[in-house]
Amino acid sequence: MSRGLRRLVGPVLLLVLGPSCQRNTAEEADPCATQTSPHNIVLPFYFPAPPVFSDPLTLEGMALGRRLYYDTLLSRNGPLQGLACATCHDQARSFTVPNGTVNVLPHVNLAWNSSFLWNGKVSGNLQDIMRFEVSDFFQVDVNVLRSHPEYPELFRKALGTCWITREDVARALAQWFRRLTSTHSKFDRYLRYEEMLTAQEVSGMSIFLSETGDCFHCHAVPLMTDNRFHNIGLQSTFTGFDVGRYAVTGNPIEMGAFKTPTLRNIALTAPYMHDGRFATLEEVVDFYSSGVQHSPSLDPIMTKPGTGLTIGLTPQQKADLVAFLHTLTDTAFVNDPELRNPF
Ligand code: HEC
Ligand code: HEC
Repeated sequence: MSRGLRRLVGPVLLLVLGPSCQRNTAEEADPCATQTSPHNIVLPFYFPAPPVFSDPLTLEGMALGRRLYYDTLLSRNGPLQGLACATCHDQARSFTVPNGTVNVLPHVNLAWNSSFLWNGKVSGNLQDIMRFEVSDFFQVDVNVLRSHPEYPELFRKALGTCWITREDVARALAQWFRRLTSTHSKFDRYLRYEEMLTAQEVSGMSIFLSETGDCFHCHAVPLMTDNRFHNIGLQSTFTGFDVGRYAVTGNPIEMGAFKTPTLRNIALTAPYMHDGRFATLEEVVDFYSSGVQHSPSLDPIMTKPGTGLTIGLTPQQKADLVAFLHTLTDTAFVNDPELRNPF
């Protein structure tokens, strides 16, 4: 069947299926109805409460979202043919891969996020960003899923829907993203009194959490991000993607401002910054120590009383800070068999 013809047949089928879906009389059960198994994600005491979503989290919903995430069918007939979400978002690297000019953002603890993408182009909750990924980025052809031997039944079981729409694809993916929760790094175990940090890691932690390094203002514990936008002084003039948040709001105060990325699993997600300009954490720490550049929109937090733009860390302090950043690696998360490719 040609694509055009399939588009025409779609609405006709909908008319045929529509009334039967609604015919929910006492003697005849709704053929789309489903029984799902609720799933609860247990969070450590120091985590914020999870935001409320319109869909309950279910085993069936997460499993469907996981399968879609790893399935190249999603890009069939779209501009990104042959790709799955997981092609650019690899579990072993906290769901990133090294990329060209725009660095891939990781998928970890995004349920708490309200702005998505480096410049915050999409705001809302997980379902809103999934709607963007499905409709604008992948331009998912739902007919491919509707005519698949397994997907219609999987969608019915997970979401109680007889006719797959892009919104349903976004709903399933959003459930999967709620499952991508990381709470088992060494730093987490330290916060739960389960494991000690080494002397060097403790020293790095005090630099991170005090005015010495001043990192915690923006990379706040426990999500290691404040979910806000800052110009941290990577450069003093801005063109192209480097204008950051300014491209979305047109507000000069946000020139060069980017979303604070989480530092969870940061040792696994090189290169660093929105354009991947730094190859190692040592380079990042060198930048924060003495590389910050002035511009009118520079975040005031980057200006230090007395010393101007430099925090002037010693080589020992830099090494300690890097050691602390390594404690944010959650090996259970990146090796979790339940998060792997299901195919
Ligand atoms: C071709 C590579 C590629 C593919 C395929 C891809 N992504 Fe991404 N993803 C990126 C890049 C690059 C970014 C950062 C882009 C930006 O911020 O402008 C990103 C960012 C995101 C973000 C924002 C994260 C945040 O912290 O704000 C989400 C969510 C996301 N992707 C989900 C998906 C989903 C779902 C799919 C599959 C439907 C997908 N991605 C497929 C490259 C990709
Ligand atoms: C004023 C807020 C702010 C402060 C203070 C701050 N950061 Fe950042 N950090 C950001 C933002 C925003 C980015 C992304 C910037 C970009 O890509 O243009 C970032 C990026 C990073 C990255 C790279 C993340 C990635 O996924 O590529 C690392 C690592 C990092 N910061 C560590 C630190 C450390 C260590 C400190 C303390 C010395 C610190 N930050 C202080 C806001 C801040």
